[in-house]
Amino acid sequence: MNVLLIGSGGREHALAMALAKSPLLSKLYAAPGNPGIGELAELVEISVADHAAVVAFCKANDVGLVVVGPEVPLVAGLVDALEDEGVAAFGPSRAAARLEGSKGFAKEFCAKFHIPTAPFARFEAAEPAKDYLRRQGAPIVVKADGLAAGKGVIVAQTLQEAEAAVDMMFAGAFGAAGASVVIEAFLEGEEASFFALCDGTRAVPFASAQDHKRVGEGESGPNTGGMGAYSPAPVVDAAMEARVMAEIVEPTLAGMAELGAPFRGVLFAGLMIGAHGPQLIEFNVRFGDPETQAMLPRLEDDLLALMLACAEGRLGEAAPKLSERAALTVVVAAKGYPAAPKPGGEISGLDEAAKEAVVTIAGARREGGRLLADGGRVLNVTGLGADVREAAARAYGALGKLRYEDGFFRRDIGWRALSP
Ligand code: AMP
Ligand code: GLY
Repeated sequence: MNVLLIGSGGREHALAMALAKSPLLSKLYAAPGNPGIGELAELVEISVADHAAVVAFCKANDVGLVVVGPEVPLVAGLVDALEDEGVAAFGPSRAAARLEGSKGFAKEFCAKFHIPTAPFARFEAAEPAKDYLRRQGAPIVVKADGLAAGKGVIVAQTLQEAEAAVDMMFAGAFGAAGASVVIEAFLEGEEASFFALCDGTRAVPFASAQDHKRVGEGESGPNTGGMGAYSPAPVVDAAMEARVMAEIVEPTLAGMAELGAPFRGVLFAGLMIGAHGPQLIEFNVRFGDPETQAMLPRLEDDLLALMLACAEGRLGEAAPKLSERAALTVVVAAKGYPAAPKPGGEISGLDEAAKEAVVTIAGARREGGRLLADGGRVLNVTGLGADVREAAARAYGALGKLRYEDGFFRRDIGWRALSP
């Protein structure tokens, strides 16, 4: 079968590596891809936002499955456009992608279907939002309703900060994504990411992970897309996994089916695990980046076969098999990330590093024989080992082989799992 992979980051490079192992795969295409993905796939120059062009490419090239990596094309309805023309896709419809595309929708959905999450209120104007903030007090969390590339959430420690966040959002800092604002209670506990494969009516657990969102060591500095991750998450033991499935994932599948928007693809539940058990921080409707780079090297089943089963509504009862081994991913970013990453820095030593760890390209381009940074998050290095400590030692050992003067990485990825 021919497969078209949509996306261009480290997550998609990891997906390409897993798909390339499938005996079902004839040819892999990627749009737009990156130089790492280009070693495994034919890169095609179609605009992902042009749904008709993607459909036409699939028909002309006998594509049997489209795998959509990022959230933007899902929320824009790419899967609907493909399915309307008989092309199978891994990922939710536009209606089901509202779980990520609108935080207000997700919160109202949780309330309706009794899914544990922080108490909230939703506002369309600044004054009532600020009245509510003053009644609730800080700490409190202010979120733009729509997609904001991971920047639309302000965890405010003071009322002033929260009011400033409300003003900024209604002033249009996130465009239409901030026309509606969700304010919710601050949750305490330990964060974890949980991933389940879904076929519209059935969900099976895939894997858990933990990531590090802050740019600096010791969880300091601004939030980023993620500076590193490890899998599995020690807080998600078998008993916790069973609770997450029963209290969050299964009611979500049933609720979305009841609303006429059955969920297919991978459901990513961002969790806060505290004294009352798991609570939902947010839904994502796709694989996480960089969690995927840590999870997929543990997968022992055929990813393409699993994705086809999700797309075709025939997922089995058994959960996919993942290795007991741990994996840990360190993100290498360009200096200045996230505010102003320095472009164009040269990277070398990849082949040496790749002897010890899995190296994926996140944001880089080739120019002649050289590999140059082209984005904020540039590379991901994943080590595998018997436990998180061994996985970290492998990843950091491999990082020592890389040369990239204009880059940096956190040296404390996995600290929570490593501290005694
Ligand atoms: P999100 O984009 O919704 O994942 O939010 C980004 C980060 O903000 C999360 O990973 C949490 O660290 C934090 N966060 C979001 N909502 C809450 C909440 N209700 N309580 C505490 N922290 C939160
Ligand atoms: N690592 C978080 C995300 O992919 O949204």
